[in-house]
Amino acid sequence: MGTSNALSNTTLQNNTRIYLSSPHMSDEGYEQAYIKEAFDTNWIAPLGNNVNEFEKELTEKVGTKCAAALSSGTAAIHLALKAVGVGKKSGTDSAVDREDRDVVFCPSLTFSATVNPIVYQNATPVFIDSDEETWNMSPVALEKAFQKYGERAKAVVVVHLYGLSADLDKILEICDKYNVPLIEDSAESLGTKYKGKYTGTFGKYGIFSFNGNKIITTSGGGMLVANDIKASEERIAKVRFWATQSRDVARWYQHSELGYNYRMSNIVAGIGRGQLKVLDKRVEKKKNIFGFYRRELEMLDGVAMMPTNDWNEPNYWLSCLRLSGSVKPLDIMLALEKENIESRPIWKPMHLQPYYSECDFISQCASGSVSEKIFENGICLPSDTKMTENDLARVVKIIKKLWR
Ligand SMILES: Cc1ncc(COP(=O)(O)O)c(C=O)c1O
Repeated sequence: MGTSNALSNTTLQNNTRIYLSSPHMSDEGYEQAYIKEAFDTNWIAPLGNNVNEFEKELTEKVGTKCAAALSSGTAAIHLALKAVGVGKKSGTDSAVDREDRDVVFCPSLTFSATVNPIVYQNATPVFIDSDEETWNMSPVALEKAFQKYGERAKAVVVVHLYGLSADLDKILEICDKYNVPLIEDSAESLGTKYKGKYTGTFGKYGIFSFNGNKIITTSGGGMLVANDIKASEERIAKVRFWATQSRDVARWYQHSELGYNYRMSNIVAGIGRGQLKVLDKRVEKKKNIFGFYRRELEMLDGVAMMPTNDWNEPNYWLSCLRLSGSVKPLDIMLALEKENIESRPIWKPMHLQPYYSECDFISQCASGSVSEKIFENGICLPSDTKMTENDLARVVKIIKKLWR
């Protein structure tokens, strides 16, 4: 009896699902304490102390001026675009108007949430290829895009994919040259540093996501940070205004501008405050996961881990690699899935998405698209911070079998 129980426990343990990146609340129960405080003071909604403190604490953590806590990272990108003035010219669907719309440059290799808000603002996204060394926006392709679109370009949205920072110095230099604002989509890179400074704090605005799979989560939520020393308080006040239905200061409900219901709730912000306390621990764990995969897998024929370099201190949100031999990403995904382990393809580039098929794509070189190559031969491995050493060993054992 005892033996069979022990056996079934072992089997169960071996088949326990391993996730790509799932919510990981603090062992200390920080999140629940902040939620309890909100309940005890009946600040369930709207807004409240947790929202104010979460904004302040995140601002202090990343070293920026001020922040607005919002309902999602997508909402934060949307309001950042609005804040820099994208889409002032509102278009209709006629072909002539389309030619006249504002253009925003963003990477092709990203999640659709980077791009969709550009369309919400009636602007046109132009997709920029990736750089082999960073997997992020290629400065060479960005320069080409400015030369092609000139004054129609109203903003650049850069992404720090999977927690790897883009080459910000080069990208900022180009933005400055053309006098176009930079927005950093740091949804995946909270805790990543570029040359010693946190990503999200270089552009005019930065955004973070607290979606369920991010390095820290509030179940869902986002933050917009303003880094412009001169105007940030004023701009963030405007963002908060838009995010609360653009209610004018008046005795009755009056609206002079289009509004949105984009603010974060006080309960959700309580989770965020708790999670922020364990951010450094989560970065450390993600780094160890990446280090483990690198030690175990890099020696396999055709395996190249995602690129790291001297100036990048990633948060290693997801551990990714590329394959150039006979084993393909799908082989790994299927083998892991059979053992109840989650993995994922690299984001499918936006210029290959049916919805965006009419948008322009600027490649880095004539010999083909880097972003397509990364998509075709890349894979995201399970990077859940709750993984044990046994879990990691289980993953690499399954992968290594494919090389035998
Ligand atoms: C690169 C990128 N941008 C934007 C988002 C959108 O964030 P949210 O899900 O909080 O709206 C995500 C993640 O979901 C993302 O990975």
